[in-house]
Amino acid sequence: MDPMITIAVRAARVAGGIITRSLGKFDSYTVTQKTRNDYVSDVDKAAEQEIINILSKSYPNHCFLAEEGGYHGRDPGKDDYVWIIDPLDGTTNFLHGFPQFAVSIALQYRGKLERAVVYDPMRQDLFTAVRGGGAMLNNRRLRVTPQKSLKGALLGTGFPFKDQSYLDAYLAMLKDLVKDTAGIRRAGAAALDLAYVAAGWLDGFWEIGLQPWDMAAGVLLIQEAGGVVSDLEGGDNYMETGHLITAGPRLHQIIVDTVKPHVTDSLRYRGR
Ligand code: IPD
Ligand code: CA
Ligand code: CA
Repeated sequence: MDPMITIAVRAARVAGGIITRSLGKFDSYTVTQKTRNDYVSDVDKAAEQEIINILSKSYPNHCFLAEEGGYHGRDPGKDDYVWIIDPLDGTTNFLHGFPQFAVSIALQYRGKLERAVVYDPMRQDLFTAVRGGGAMLNNRRLRVTPQKSLKGALLGTGFPFKDQSYLDAYLAMLKDLVKDTAGIRRAGAAALDLAYVAAGWLDGFWEIGLQPWDMAAGVLLIQEAGGVVSDLEGGDNYMETGHLITAGPRLHQIIVDTVKPHVTDSLRYRGR
């Protein structure tokens, strides 16, 4: 296995153990509210700390962009190696005992995604990707679906529950997509949703209001599985805006064409 993936997988598994050992033990951790509808627990923080400890032991000169701790580095935007970490993606699910969450770890080198690990500790699904080396689930090579139309397609999404100023635009997109697809799922952990697109379990996915740590690993998984990732208008600004559409190449264009008429000016920039 690629040495950086080996270390990242070790970190993801340790974090996954911290999370599953605490699942359902509601009295064993404290929860605080960060912003509207956005919660963090001691479990998120402990998992993040453990991931950073493991990675920095092997890579003392690398930098970290982690959801709970922010940026640890010298020169944001210019540091060579940056690990982008969501220690517990799907915190709201976890806090309710709803078993859909994951650990997401990506490595960027000079602004390009190079390695990805998304680990579901409940199902022990380990998704990994190396730039140019493909995407894997455990030992199986991944491929996005060849779906060509919305008819028969299963899509994933996330609701813009934090910044509700996007709600009207989002609902208009949902309305246009829901009437033509086989179904739309909102499972509550974006990193896993993206991994499911890479695995071909979802034909496509879109969400408004994501953060880099929600997306980074999943984006590389999809690209290495032959999928396309864009912002809401088909451009490359998904990391900057936080708004993303992804699918196999043909379906991707159809989703972009459906969503684009509902894109308002504020959706061309990052909100929150
Ligand atoms: C959230 C989940 C959710 C998505 C939110 C994210 P968190 O991440 O990925 O599915 O809809 O936008 O913030 O807060 O549980 O790490
Ligand atoms: Ca997240
Ligand atoms: Ca999180």
